[in-house]
Amino acid sequence: MYLADISRLNQGQVLGKSLYDENSKLLLAAGYKISDQIIKLLKKHGFRSVYVSDGLTDEITPEEVISASLRMTSNKLVIETYEEVRNHPSIRKNTALKTLDPEKLKARINDDPKLNHIIRMPEIKNIVENIMDDIISNNISMFAALPIKSDSGKDYEHAVDTTILCILMGRLFDYNWKDLYSLASSALLHDIGKAVIPQVSPKEQEVYYKEHPTYSMLLVQGNDPSGFSKHFTVHHHHEELGGEGYPQGLTAHDISPARRSPTNKSEIFHHAFILSVANYYDNLISGDVDETIYSPEQALQKIISEAGTRWNSYAVQALASVIERYPVGARVKIVEASLQKLKGFVGVVARTNPNKPTQPLIIVTHNPLGNQITPIKIDLANLQNVKLELDR
Ligand SMILES: [Fe+2]
Ligand SMILES: [Fe+2]
Repeated sequence: MYLADISRLNQGQVLGKSLYDENSKLLLAAGYKISDQIIKLLKKHGFRSVYVSDGLTDEITPEEVISASLRMTSNKLVIETYEEVRNHPSIRKNTALKTLDPEKLKARINDDPKLNHIIRMPEIKNIVENIMDDIISNNISMFAALPIKSDSGKDYEHAVDTTILCILMGRLFDYNWKDLYSLASSALLHDIGKAVIPQVSPKEQEVYYKEHPTYSMLLVQGNDPSGFSKHFTVHHHHEELGGEGYPQGLTAHDISPARRSPTNKSEIFHHAFILSVANYYDNLISGDVDETIYSPEQALQKIISEAGTRWNSYAVQALASVIERYPVGARVKIVEASLQKLKGFVGVVARTNPNKPTQPLIIVTHNPLGNQITPIKIDLANLQNVKLELDR
């Protein structure tokens, strides 16, 4: 099976993996035949891509970074947490005020004791520890996933994916359980402050948006007062080394996140070096930075080019070593290869190569004219000057 863009689904294809809606309810089971009606339903739910079986690459089964059921429960908890914050009477009352300004909103969140029990911290802890457990016990070291984000559930999926990335990256800095947990739970909640942004005009929203890390921090602080590391990490997730980030425009030396940075308020906290990179990566591949949906390789290249100026270079290096450029199940086009006649052929990644991450083993299924051919396996590691492109 392979990951196909919704716009390229054909009648007669079969759904390769089950799909769940934003409430983690089963929407369509694997094996369902794609029809016009199904395509409409998928569009309605905001899906951008789905796994399909085509009879050519059925031996390919994409791996999950965490189990599907854990992903569902995690998504559900994040959705509920956002909803509980958004619908809490104190928040609703505040965000409905026409005259409220971003600073006043901060003060209100900070001063309202009712908001200190709004996040179910024991459940958050439980889920984060389960994700850590899943990754560590299965010895997962790579983020082998392409975005299958639905438009409606994007924010929640972003929270979970960023958490997974932070765990994979944090492990490379030999973080102990406590540090890893602190980083991962900060990642799960880093954008919770978006839930308090009032429904104002897009121009006004921009001002509130720049303060969302502060709102997130205040909510986490109120609900988990002793988690100092989390407060800093959440607050600093949009800060950049050179001071171009927000909300405070903090700066930092480009030192390894393995070393604890001073918990003073003028420098970026070391866990946030990792979170900011994971967050930015996921935003790039989700199309949330500049409307372009970056492929993992394109996103990595962009972030690598900004290492040391915007992003902590150690964290960037960690990201580069956990991202699977062309995960199993990705459809790719051969743009360049030493074997000229392969140019333009399209196939699906069947096996990745840890030593040559941009040269996986693929099953070629279509010629450059788009015509189906008898599938053949080609190990791109044996060729030179290979350049691939995601063919969504
Ligand atoms: Fe954010
Ligand atoms: Fe984010």
